[in-house]
Amino acid sequence: ITVAGGKVTYKSPSNIALVKYWGKKENQIPANPSISFTLDACATTTTISFIKLSSVANEFQFDLYFEGKPKEDFNPKIRTFFKRIVPYMPFLTAYHFTIETSNSFPHSSGIASSASGMSALALCLMEIEKQLNPKIETDYYYKKASFLARLGSGSASRSIEGDIVQWGEHEKTKGSSDLYGIKYPYHVHDIFKKYHDTILLVDKGEKQVSSTVGHNLMHGHPFAGQRFAQAHENLTKLQSVLANGDLDAFIKIVESEALTLHAMMMTSQPYFILMKPQTLEIINRIWAFRKKSGTHVCFTLDAGANVHVLYPEIEKDEVHQFIKNELVTYCQNGQYIHDRIGFGAKKM
Ligand code: PMV
Repeated sequence: ITVAGGKVTYKSPSNIALVKYWGKKENQIPANPSISFTLDACATTTTISFIKLSSVANEFQFDLYFEGKPKEDFNPKIRTFFKRIVPYMPFLTAYHFTIETSNSFPHSSGIASSASGMSALALCLMEIEKQLNPKIETDYYYKKASFLARLGSGSASRSIEGDIVQWGEHEKTKGSSDLYGIKYPYHVHDIFKKYHDTILLVDKGEKQVSSTVGHNLMHGHPFAGQRFAQAHENLTKLQSVLANGDLDAFIKIVESEALTLHAMMMTSQPYFILMKPQTLEIINRIWAFRKKSGTHVCFTLDAGANVHVLYPEIEKDEVHQFIKNELVTYCQNGQYIHDRIGFGAKKM
């Protein structure tokens, strides 16, 4: 089928890892499996308009608009991404693409936009592929979208489909793969079906160390082998926790994963620290409040200074009050985002 052109739109969420991906092999193959909660409010919306070229181009033909304005500095990233995926999407050389993208969260808030951005882009491209080949099956569609998103940014493979997503081969998870994320296939206790995540914006500055550099520092890292084994074990433990709803055990795994991620950064060569003094203040406040209140509020971190505050729906009012009274003071300009577990990307 030849299609002269068209327009597709996807809205794709960010995600927050419970067991972290840190370290990779060639071709974006993760060094260990990871699992995440899909978010809801933090999302990227991307529209691609495509028009068939009169002849096949040597260079990829595209224009990119970020929040309504041309954004040249994203072009190399898109070009690299297209180059990586063109073997799986030959039509990329046959069309001109206008890519319009925007985030629901404040620009340069320090929230990783690569997961939502790359998954939205991958899904739009998959939708174009489907228009060229309407026979594509749903299962293949989502798997390939996650496969492509992974080639843009590893964690983006976990932002396609489902509320809890696992990426990376794990001996205790049937159907798990290094090539794409899967919807978590086992029983999940009701308590986790409405989990909340309030993201405290501690530092909105540019990261001093990109996650690409960070992943690479796991090559030859003195603790790499131990760390990768630990991720497998934590994932196995988390499977029972997700099934039985044991929140104390959940907290132990999730907080330890966050601190281990940052411990890997502090013990690599060169070493670096992404946490800020406010990050540590917040962590201490969370620990003190949890003890005092008997709630199950806990934290996790991604590759930055911001803190994700996790808590079950039933403790929402109490934790919101705590955040307002005690934690907002540590946020840059008092900024935070109340988010919650979501269900994956949506075609618009
Ligand atoms: O997707 P990347 O390459 O930006 O890596 C992100 C890694 C962490 O956010 C730190 C952990 C994770 O599993 O999301």
